[in-house]
Amino acid sequence: MSKLMWPVAIGGVCAVVTWIVSGMLHFPLIFQWMFMFYIALGTGVFLLLAAPELPLLRTGKAIVGLVAFYLFTSGVFLAGGAILPQFDPTVEQEKINKILKHRRAQFEAPDNTEQLLKKAQVLSVQANDLMGRVAKLQGTAAPILVASAGATLSPVERGKEVYNLYECYNCHKIGGEGGTKKRGPEMGNLGNLLTPKQIIKKILSTKADPYFYAEGFEKEHKKGLMPEKYRELMTEEELSTLAAYLMTLKNPAHKTPKPIFLKDEVEHGFTVYGYVRDVNGQPVPNMKVAARPSTAGSHAASATTNKDGYYEAFIHLHNTDAGALIRLSVRNQKKELRADFDPLDKTTKRQATVDFTL
Ligand code: HEC
Repeated sequence: MSKLMWPVAIGGVCAVVTWIVSGMLHFPLIFQWMFMFYIALGTGVFLLLAAPELPLLRTGKAIVGLVAFYLFTSGVFLAGGAILPQFDPTVEQEKINKILKHRRAQFEAPDNTEQLLKKAQVLSVQANDLMGRVAKLQGTAAPILVASAGATLSPVERGKEVYNLYECYNCHKIGGEGGTKKRGPEMGNLGNLLTPKQIIKKILSTKADPYFYAEGFEKEHKKGLMPEKYRELMTEEELSTLAAYLMTLKNPAHKTPKPIFLKDEVEHGFTVYGYVRDVNGQPVPNMKVAARPSTAGSHAASATTNKDGYYEAFIHLHNTDAGALIRLSVRNQKKELRADFDPLDKTTKRQATVDFTL
């Protein structure tokens, strides 16, 4: 009996240690269970080795036993193959082909198409901006198609494809869906927090050259969890369409963490914050606040009030934009404020507060 206890005890210790270590290494749950399955299998083999010999079977019974054993092991293999995640080379090959197709199109294009491509990218970002505004007016997103070299997809659709091709979903979720691991932040409200340029800069940043980290993810950021390989792998077209796609994710119900900028950003941003209340002084939650700087080339920002009626809008402003007018609007109310800051002061947070009573 004690002969049978040993494999069970060792298997148990292995299982506990593997579970803890794989958890610490951020393995997804399905992998952790797979490890448990392997350990159980190994334990089973050692149990069989330690088990007392079966009585010798005579011809007829021996054949039946053999066939039964064969059916049983085949069943285990087939069920395992159907349940466990599989690596499918054709799926991976397809992904690689899609990535390469766009690269080839760029290489084979004559010189002046490069300029055209750049123009298409600029257009795609502008189109996306417009789309955001149209969506705001209509309450739904309307697809705008802009032809880009070698693709019949709209920039946003292409961006979604890029998101999947580079497997961002391995760590990120959109509206709580699509991801298998919980290593990175939820993306569902990214469009309300960042500009396309900031998204691209984040993707290109490295541990040695950081840009910002997502609030609450300081530890993960310090560990360098977000891969640095995109810097080498992604083309400009991929970066700009990916950013265009991520900018369409504007659902304030999804808890995307705010960016915490690590350097310089105080020079480029201005935060407007405050409360939206009704005439009785009660907070108005889920209310859109739009902030539009009057400076040329700057991006409009929008924010949504939380349950306390509080909002915070981050506006992209440069040092040279000191004193710029910012137009705020909530429902049909409009207010203006001047972005007063000292361009030489690089430590004081640039911000102003504006409250609304609806
Ligand atoms: C291996 C895991 C991993 C993968 C894969 C990954 N990320 Fe991340 N990402 C993270 C982690 C962790 C953070 C939070 C820490 C930080 O900000 O550095 C993060 C943060 C971000 C942020 C900032 C979010 C915010 O709320 O401020 C953006 C944007 C982002 N990732 C985009 C991407 C895109 C686009 C891809 C695919 C090309 C991608 N990530 C792939 C782990 C990953």
